[in-house]
Amino acid sequence: LQRWILMVTARAPTNIAVIKYWGKRDEKLILPINDSISFTLDPDHLSATTTVAVSPSFTSDRMWLNGKEVSLGGERYQNCLREIRSRGNDVVDEKNGIVIRKEDWQRLHLHIASYNNFPTAAGLASSAAGFACLVYSLAKLMDVKEKYQGELTAIARRGSGSACRSLYGGVVKWQMGKETDGSDSIAVQLATEKHWEELVILVAVVSSRQKETSSTTGMSQSVETSELLRHRSQEVVPKRVLQMEEAIANRDFGSFAKITCADSNQFHAVCLDTSPPIFYMNDTSHRIINCVERWNRSEGTPQVAYTFDAGPNAVMYAPNRKVAGLLLQRLLFYFPPDSSKTFSSYVIGDTSILE
Ligand code: PMV
Repeated sequence: LQRWILMVTARAPTNIAVIKYWGKRDEKLILPINDSISFTLDPDHLSATTTVAVSPSFTSDRMWLNGKEVSLGGERYQNCLREIRSRGNDVVDEKNGIVIRKEDWQRLHLHIASYNNFPTAAGLASSAAGFACLVYSLAKLMDVKEKYQGELTAIARRGSGSACRSLYGGVVKWQMGKETDGSDSIAVQLATEKHWEELVILVAVVSSRQKETSSTTGMSQSVETSELLRHRSQEVVPKRVLQMEEAIANRDFGSFAKITCADSNQFHAVCLDTSPPIFYMNDTSHRIINCVERWNRSEGTPQVAYTFDAGPNAVMYAPNRKVAGLLLQRLLFYFPPDSSKTFSSYVIGDTSILE
């Protein structure tokens, strides 16, 4: 029996879309009906850390999520594992006498342990960080070399659509692509983390309950029943993506905020236009929107942008720490910690704004 184990650990943050992905044209390959754009958070907050290990003594592929064993039997895990394994290369560690030939990846078993650095049930997208991290760490372990830029993002996409955007930092676009095999449905980095460093992202956890309609179910119902979604994907998003790219390139916070809020609101309008209608936001979410809209209008120019994914939690973008501090003051005033409409917690990108 050979007694060795080879391990790789990686960390990947989640990302928050400002132009939303909603709707697939191919459910199996996870190909979207429109482009989307997101910001990847910094890895100290809302990220997944994954260790992947290979050893000849392992007898099956196994995975633990936050310390609890989970099944790898699902199609999404299987697709990612198969795609990565088929691209594995020779890995030789002479010092420790480890020799893995590329064909060995098909028979060697893996153990995978993944942790989220935020409460699992916080209702915050964890699959994006999780699948991005899984694909990246496996690719490192098996010395996978991309044959084309973005090949790994196309594999992460098979785990969870939005995961493809978490393989890069900064601002990332997921191009829907044209090919039927999905090879050009990849993520590309539009700007690095350094490009808009002053921007502060603030997450208000409104409810930590699990969402009632999963994004997969919601999307397919919207594609089947919402006329607004057809209009959105064909007429609205293509123009909006160009406007958003320009706003980001120019660090034009006013335009950025207008487009971000409009896109979140249209996404939730699509959910209402779906049959049966889907309600992801709750009363508190609506009150946050009101609070930000009133503030923005009273100042004449947008101070803050809000966006909501498939759940009631608010993600807010502020142009700098000063405004982020003011936003937090407002939120604490309108949603005091002892009120029944309080947030269960605040997760703040940079806690020093509290000082
Ligand atoms: O990748 P999924 O299947 O979890 O879908 C994510 C969809 C939204 O979060 C609502 C929007 C987005 O672009 O991230």
